[in-house]
Amino acid sequence: MRHFLTLKDFTKEEILEILEIGLRIKRELKNGEKKHYLADQTLAMIFEKSSTRTRVSFETGIFQLGGHGLFLSNRDIHLGRGEPVKDTSRVISSMCDMVMIRTFAQSMLEEFAAYSKVPIINGLTDSYHPVQLLADYMTMMEHDHADSPVVAYIGDGNNMTHSWLMLAAKLGFELRIATPDGYAPDGSVVEEAMAFAKRSGAVIKVMNDPAEAIRGATVVTTDTWASMGQEDEKEERMKVFKGYIIDDAMMKLAEDGAIFLHCLPAYRGQEVSESVLEGNQSVVFDEAENRLHAQKGLMVWLDNHR
Ligand code: CP
Ligand code: NVA
Repeated sequence: MRHFLTLKDFTKEEILEILEIGLRIKRELKNGEKKHYLADQTLAMIFEKSSTRTRVSFETGIFQLGGHGLFLSNRDIHLGRGEPVKDTSRVISSMCDMVMIRTFAQSMLEEFAAYSKVPIINGLTDSYHPVQLLADYMTMMEHDHADSPVVAYIGDGNNMTHSWLMLAAKLGFELRIATPDGYAPDGSVVEEAMAFAKRSGAVIKVMNDPAEAIRGATVVTTDTWASMGQEDEKEERMKVFKGYIIDDAMMKLAEDGAIFLHCLPAYRGQEVSESVLEGNQSVVFDEAENRLHAQKGLMVWLDNHR
C-alpha cells in the first residue's frame, strides 16, 4: 500500500503514470462517461485549514468515481478537541477506503499514515502541497509546456515552493526560485531536491532577484505571500515582498508564449497583478479544474497499489 505524502516518495514514472490515468479519466468524463473505478469506496477528508478547490475537487472526484466523500472539519470531529492522531487514524481507516488530510505539520500526516490501514493523501501541510503540483504539471502538459520547461517561482519559499522543488528534481527540469532574504525555501528540502536532481538532470537555482529568475522562463508561477497560519505576519510580509509582484513588466522578461500558473487563491495587487492573472498567458482556471482530474488519477492509482 502507498501513501501520497510528498512527491519525494514517487519516481518520475509513477508521477507520469498518475497523470496519464487522470488525463484518461478526464477524456472519458468530457465524452460523457462517468466510470465508477472506485465504486462504493469512501474517502474521508479531514480539514484543519480552509479550502475551496481541495474540498470541491476531492468530494466531486470521489463521487464521479462511484464513491462517497466525508467532509470532516476539525471543528466537528474529536481530533479538534484533542483525540490523539493515532486513535483517529485507526478509527477512520477501519471504516473508510482512503483519507485525505489538510493540516499544519507534516509530522501529523506521517503519524496518521503510520497508523492507517488505508492510503493517506496530503491535501496540503505547512511543508508541501503535492496534489496541487499534479494539477500544475497536467496543465503544463495540456498547454504544451512540459517539454524541457524552465519554471520561475517568484515569492515566498513555502509549501508550494517545496513541492515545485520536488517535482523539478524528480522530473528533471529547470527551476529557478527567487525569494526575499529570510524567506527562502527550507535548506534541507533544497538539499534533498539537489540530491534527486543529480540523478534526474534537473537544474535548480535559488536566488533573490526575481528578474534574474524570470528571464527566459517558459512557465512563471507564484503563490500568496502569507500562507494559512501566517495571518499575524501579513503586514510585515507585504513590505518585505514588494518588488516580487508578477506584473506585465515582469512577465515581459519571460519567454514569449510563457504561461502563468497560480495554485489560487490569488491576491491581486500583491503577488500578481490583475492584468497578468486575467491576461492571455494565464492558465490558472484550467489549472484549478485539473485538481479534479489529477486527483481522480491519484485515487485510482493508489487503489491499484493496495
Ligand atoms: N489551491 C488550493 O489548494 O486551493 P484551496 O485552498 O481552495 O483548496
Ligand atoms: N501557500 C498557500 C497555498 C494555498 C493553497 C497556503 O498554504 O496557504
